[in-house]
Amino acid sequence: MSVDPYMRVRMAATLPNYPSWELGAVMDGSAIGVVEASGDGSLAEGTVVSHRYGWRDHALVPLTEVRPIAVDPAIPLTAHLDVLGMTGLTAYVGLRDVARLQPGEDVWVSGAAGAVGAACGQLARLLGAGRVIGSAGSPEKVRQLTDELGYDAAFDYHVPELTAALLEVAPAGIDVYFDNVGDDHLAAALDVIRPHGRIVVCGAINQYNQLGERPGPHNLINVLTQRLRVEGFTVREHLASYEAFVERASEWMRQGRLTSAVTVAEGLDHAVHAFREMLRGANRGKMLVRVSEDP
Ligand SMILES: NC(=O)c1ccc[n+]([C@@H]2O[C@H](COP(=O)([O-])OP(=O)(O)OC[C@H]3O[C@@H](n4cnc5c(N)ncnc54)[C@H](OP(=O)(O)O)[C@@H]3O)[C@@H](O)[C@H]2O)c1
Repeated sequence: MSVDPYMRVRMAATLPNYPSWELGAVMDGSAIGVVEASGDGSLAEGTVVSHRYGWRDHALVPLTEVRPIAVDPAIPLTAHLDVLGMTGLTAYVGLRDVARLQPGEDVWVSGAAGAVGAACGQLARLLGAGRVIGSAGSPEKVRQLTDELGYDAAFDYHVPELTAALLEVAPAGIDVYFDNVGDDHLAAALDVIRPHGRIVVCGAINQYNQLGERPGPHNLINVLTQRLRVEGFTVREHLASYEAFVERASEWMRQGRLTSAVTVAEGLDHAVHAFREMLRGANRGKMLVRVSEDP
């Protein structure tokens, strides 16, 4: 099962259009499982399925709420919760449909060594981006971005001046900023983005532990002077693109052009720990919890 930053937001007071969880209810979210018994002949026992019943080891699920997974020996099952799941779709539609990325355009992705970020760097490249720049929270992650995840350049965001650090690796600016962090990262992007650039607001993890009133970026006027488009999105509004995306991304995986990086915690008992570790950056790629043996 998947542990995700948005779950932290759903534990907090309500935001507009973002319902919080009911206290005491099981936390829902992306998971994959094996059918142990079925009352419907169309779904055989042993079928591997994805569903959204989240943090539990067993669930009674209507047929309409499971999606059988075509198991492929060339693709690890965990990829279906990562680059072939909502994570990959988020990166894909964010770049393709929200940013409307054009060939040769330069992209900066924040939170680049996490799940969406790792997918984003690789997909930006596959979609024809120019330079792909990533930022993350440690020197080790920065190395991983350029050595393993196809980023052209990367930097650690723990610096006194984020704009200066960004300009060092992107002296000519950027066309697209894929925002997973918000706040100071968004302000730095506004400082260096070129005219007619796009800012894709995917997440704002810097705020999830302290939602509430916050000062906006001091340089929002750059949206006007640079004639920018700033657009937020949620992946759930793009599910119609999922099947075609999975087909395309699976082919990229089989060709070795797209990889899935996951960090797996063992056992449902460790889910809360895994969730907190993910929020403080202990994960490389997607943070998952294994609730039973792989089939
Ligand atoms: N719009 C959508 O539909 C959608 C869908 C999925 C995810 N998202 C958003 O995408 C972002 C990434 O999600 P994910 O699932 O891929 O999680 P993730 O990046 O795998 O995990 C969270 C990462 O955030 C970084 N982080 C934590 N606090 C931070 C801070 N204050 N400043 C900068 N970085 C911080 C940590 O890495 P470091 O070590 O680098 O700090 C951590 O590993 C989140 O904002 C999430 O809400 C949006």
